[in-house]
Amino acid sequence: MQHQAPFELYSIYYDLIYAAKDYEAETRYVQNLIQEIQPGVTTILELGCGTGNYAKEFCNNGFTVTGLEKSEAMLQEAGKKNIHGFSSFRGDIKDFRLQGQFDAAVSLFHVMNYLTETADIIAGLKNIAAHLQPGGLFVFDAWYTPAVYAQKAESRLKEVEDEQYRVVRHAEPVMNEERNTVDVVYEIVITEKATGRHHALRETHTMRHFSTPEIELFAGLSGMKLIRSEEFLTANTPSVATWGVCYLLQKI
Ligand SMILES: C[S@@+](CC[C@H](N)C(=O)[O-])C[C@H]1O[C@@H](n2cnc3c(N)ncnc32)[C@H](O)[C@@H]1O
Repeated sequence: MQHQAPFELYSIYYDLIYAAKDYEAETRYVQNLIQEIQPGVTTILELGCGTGNYAKEFCNNGFTVTGLEKSEAMLQEAGKKNIHGFSSFRGDIKDFRLQGQFDAAVSLFHVMNYLTETADIIAGLKNIAAHLQPGGLFVFDAWYTPAVYAQKAESRLKEVEDEQYRVVRHAEPVMNEERNTVDVVYEIVITEKATGRHHALRETHTMRHFSTPEIELFAGLSGMKLIRSEEFLTANTPSVATWGVCYLLQKI
């Protein structure tokens, strides 16, 4: 079994694993959140753009998207999609530098949870603020500490297939209550249908979860303020039943 840095081999099967995810509806939800406050937004900075699935939807809706992504392999998958209006760069949220400032920034599908150290979160948020116009918005969704402790992360098995591959992914979480993190160990077995050949890989994704007062504090230390938090997609008030919370920050 191959041991990989997060998303390096996983990237090839990423779109297959998340084929059922409704990127179109999620993008519309985020777009509505932004436009309710700032209807004139046209340029979006996307942190952790992955294989470009949100970028494709934003660009279809008329936005220009600049993507930043840590994994070269994910960027290569995004590049294959030839998304009109999308450009992408390799870099890390905590220390990237791009030319210019953007109307809004987004970081979607738990990307910010990958910043596990407090210093990196603050550095990342300061950096995002530096790339926003004054008053610019930053929308992200994140694992919510009260729900993680109330529900506990569970083992999960996911099986997906297309004409070429069958992919079985087992996710085993290990909670670290001292750090507010969960190590999610993914074991993925890919079977090439034509030949029956198997390929197995293992990646550990360490996720930091957040509480709302923490986000308020981190935003304040980074030149931003928290203006809204709600359950991602439903807009319900976050509770112990809410795994994914959407936070809306604004550059001061
Ligand atoms: C769960 S995936 C989400 C990808 C994409 N947003 C989507 O929803 O399809 C998390 C992504 O965040 C990227 N990522 C994690 N930490 C990062 C960092 N510090 N800087 C830039 N990208 C990061 C990973 O490489 C991965 O592509």
